[in-house]
Amino acid sequence: MSWFGKMLGTSLKLDNLENLLTQQLEDLYSAEEQLIEALPKMADAASSQELKSAFQTHLEETRHQKERLDRVFRMLGHQPMAETCEAMEGLIEEGQSIIDAEGDADVKDAALIAASQRVEHYEMAGYGCVRTFARRLGRQDAADLLQETLDEEANADKLLTHIAEGIVNPVAAQAS
Ligand SMILES: [Fe+2]
Repeated sequence: MSWFGKMLGTSLKLDNLENLLTQQLEDLYSAEEQLIEALPKMADAASSQELKSAFQTHLEETRHQKERLDRVFRMLGHQPMAETCEAMEGLIEEGQSIIDAEGDADVKDAALIAASQRVEHYEMAGYGCVRTFARRLGRQDAADLLQETLDEEANADKLLTHIAEGIVNPVAAQAS
């Protein structure tokens, strides 16, 4: 069950900020693991070379982000529990329906960008929170690492916007 589901179902213990931080980090850990599986499929499905390489570059970054989370867990002296980020499962499922879709290559690329920007924004929200919680707990070392990932996600998001602006040709942009 996701941390959010547990919170709604009251089986999640939120007695202190440190618990909340580790639970949210576990959620992000699951999100990154799922993305490591999903990004190669997104890259295969993309037609634009620029988009393909953006997904491939972000796959490498995502592997580092997972390692960075391992470092944060070690810093906090916490052994991560197996957690499933259900929100990311849903976002990836939406991405999969785009991968499976037929149609115009540019429009499909635009749809892949729309799906992956949702993912980036989800992660940016998550990393922004854990960065702030770590800072509030006096763990600037962990906060700095989390900020690095947050910056990478924000850059990935900006790059996707840039690609979207150039990708869809005016013919594809018009309804036929
Ligand atoms: Fe990430």
